[in-house]
Amino acid sequence: MAVEIEFLGHAGLLIRTGEHTIAVDPFLTGNPAAKKSADDIECDAIAVTHGHEDHFSDVPGIAKRTGATVFSSYEICAFLGEQGHEKCEPGNPGGEIKTPFGSVAFTQAFHSSSFQGRYMGMPMGVVVKAGGVNIYHMGDTALFGDIALIGKRHKPDVVFVPTGDRFTMGAEEGARAAEMSGAKLAVPIHYGTWPLLAADATGFKPSGCEVRLMQAGETLSF
Ligand code: NI
Ligand code: MN
Repeated sequence: MAVEIEFLGHAGLLIRTGEHTIAVDPFLTGNPAAKKSADDIECDAIAVTHGHEDHFSDVPGIAKRTGATVFSSYEICAFLGEQGHEKCEPGNPGGEIKTPFGSVAFTQAFHSSSFQGRYMGMPMGVVVKAGGVNIYHMGDTALFGDIALIGKRHKPDVVFVPTGDRFTMGAEEGARAAEMSGAKLAVPIHYGTWPLLAADATGFKPSGCEVRLMQAGETLSF
């Protein structure tokens, strides 16, 4: 089947290849943009960019219920291990882990990463390669020049770019990041969820790159 990417709202994705389902930063509980609850998420893998609540707080519960393998920082995997979830694949920026569906690569992100006051390792982006499609989720990050290097290395077909400003790039910086990634399709995320974030993605106008605005529940097909 085609590879389908469902947007879960805020920064969450659900990637389906037919054989495998990979969640990225699934955040449903307390997410005003979400249409699903955490109990609706069925997946066999979860990639987590960093420990902040709006990316990680539902992961322990989803991982426990589904038995999914979690791909994340060494520190997040250690935290989950202490909670009894041993199916983890720890990594750090620059690493790539082969998987039954393809691979998960961890990339640099300029941000912070903690959960309930505990240091959670490096914040990261992820490139999920599944069913022949390369999906670059930048995580929460500032603009940085090596996004171009990451794009050359991982050749993303689609890039998910945080544009909500304040904690990440805003829309104009996000547009530059999308251009540098080399992806032909860019989706702005991490905006509009709360009043502290930019209300919309106005200004996200990368050149040479198609833009798709997604609401929770909408799907991209490749
Ligand atoms: Ni964050
Ligand atoms: Mn965030």
